[in-house]
Amino acid sequence: MFKTNKMLAAMLLIALSVVLAACGTADEKTSSSTGDNKYAKLLVGTEATFAPFESMNDKGEIVGIDVDIMKAIGEEVGSEVEFRNVGWEPVFQQITNGELNLGASGITITDERKQTYDFTDPYYEATLMIVVKEDSPITTLDELKDKKLSVQINTTGHEAAKKLQGMSSSNILAYENQPIAFQEVINGATAAAIGDNAVVLEYLKNNPKSGLKAIESDQFEKEYYGFMVKKGNTELLDHLNEGLKKIKENGKLEEITGQKID
Ligand code: ARG
Repeated sequence: MFKTNKMLAAMLLIALSVVLAACGTADEKTSSSTGDNKYAKLLVGTEATFAPFESMNDKGEIVGIDVDIMKAIGEEVGSEVEFRNVGWEPVFQQITNGELNLGASGITITDERKQTYDFTDPYYEATLMIVVKEDSPITTLDELKDKKLSVQINTTGHEAAKKLQGMSSSNILAYENQPIAFQEVINGATAAAIGDNAVVLEYLKNNPKSGLKAIESDQFEKEYYGFMVKKGNTELLDHLNEGLKKIKENGKLEEITGQKID
């Protein structure tokens, strides 16, 4: 009798440690033990030097269009939203290893990324732009074929630069964030930068003395931003899409972005 009790206790202990060991990923940490909403709290990764989508304000808070949209979605689907400024490449890594539920960082939906991640429906239409010095003679993308270019690493701007100059071009300088890439043009280290249109225009607006100008090119394709989750996380994807659909229908998304999208 005593022996069986001991065995039972041991089995219970093992069962308990298995349950405890399972704790740790963002999905599990955020599931509330009482409610039935597995996503009562969402950990959202971003790189906050990307105004107007995400930047840090004077109080050290992450603010911007992506934050406003995610909060609006959260309100619709009963999720509290916590943003973390982890950096551009860590957004991808931390979604993969489960430290974050999703990425909201002006992330373009691309076929390449879709191999490893899933995206919500699109929430913003964007395109790339070229940034040069105000007195630069450059007017087209083709003129940048053999010029030094600065971009944010592993972004669609980086891809466009590689497409133009070849994968292994040593004329492409890739940086942690978009503002450094613009700064390199100001410094004269590169002839041009390539970046997302709304971010380029916001930078020029916020830095009127930068001495930079923006150039459009119809050689850049249309891009669509989506919120990014780990591949196969359909449950979270549906949850987010449900909220996104609602704010598309009630006009809230358009109010935030100033843009209509289906
Ligand atoms: N839209 C571009 C891409 O997905 C750039 C995004 C960069 N975002 C950021 N928060 N720095 O590649």
